[in-house]
Amino acid sequence: MTRPRLLDLFCCAGGATCGYQRAGFHVTGVDIAPQPNYCGDAFVQADAIEYAAAYAHRFDFVHASPPCQDACALTKGTNKGRTYPRLIAPTRDVLTAAGVPFVIENVAGAELRKDMRLCGEMFGLAVIRHRFFEVHRLTVPQPAHRPHRGRVAGMRHGEWFEGPYFAVYGDGGGKGTVAQWQQAMGIGWTDVRRELAEAIPPAYTHHIGRAVAEQYAARPFAA
Ligand SMILES: C[S@@+](CC[C@H](N)C(=O)[O-])C[C@H]1O[C@@H](n2cnc3c(N)ncnc32)[C@H](O)[C@@H]1O
Repeated sequence: MTRPRLLDLFCCAGGATCGYQRAGFHVTGVDIAPQPNYCGDAFVQADAIEYAAAYAHRFDFVHASPPCQDACALTKGTNKGRTYPRLIAPTRDVLTAAGVPFVIENVAGAELRKDMRLCGEMFGLAVIRHRFFEVHRLTVPQPAHRPHRGRVAGMRHGEWFEGPYFAVYGDGGGKGTVAQWQQAMGIGWTDVRRELAEAIPPAYTHHIGRAVAEQYAARPFAA
């Protein structure tokens, strides 16, 4: 059986891609930068908006994770004085025009409709990592939020504190080893901290992908 085709825009090393592959999709990733560690089935180095304008209509489903540096509370301080392009609205516009079902993923401070919020604790992961999803032309069930089990592990004032979660962001100083980050995120194919820090846990998109696959099986989306 041929796998439904999914386009992962702004794919980086493919945290999102991996979950969709597990849910049975053939995934093409698009990123403006080379991604030698990308885990998907095909990769295109291109501007995501331009690629989507030309080709998104050929896919069954599209996922987009535009960069969030201007909205992310954890990097706002570090990014002071720099400007970042706001890509959520143009991504929404181009995918709406393509007529495909899609989700846009981002952080709490971003300007997107928050149809669903996912948290690592919902999937038994050792990251909290709240991420928000704007969902178009299909539905994805919202899992119940679970209380966090404790504090984030890491160095504070020169002392290491244990905790059930790791803070997977930045360059990792005092926030755990690469192996701890990989384990916490459920990502084993890259050991590059920046790629781990940019990723969403594959468990999130596995959840979305299973819901999309069920709806696709009932009624294929593409003409
Ligand atoms: C937050 S990361 C995406 C992480 C990915 N969803 C994951 O789970 O691993 C954002 C990515 O967008 C890419 N990017 C930034 N501007 C872009 C553009 N105009 N077109 C395509 N990719 C772009 C960056 O190179 C970066 O890899």
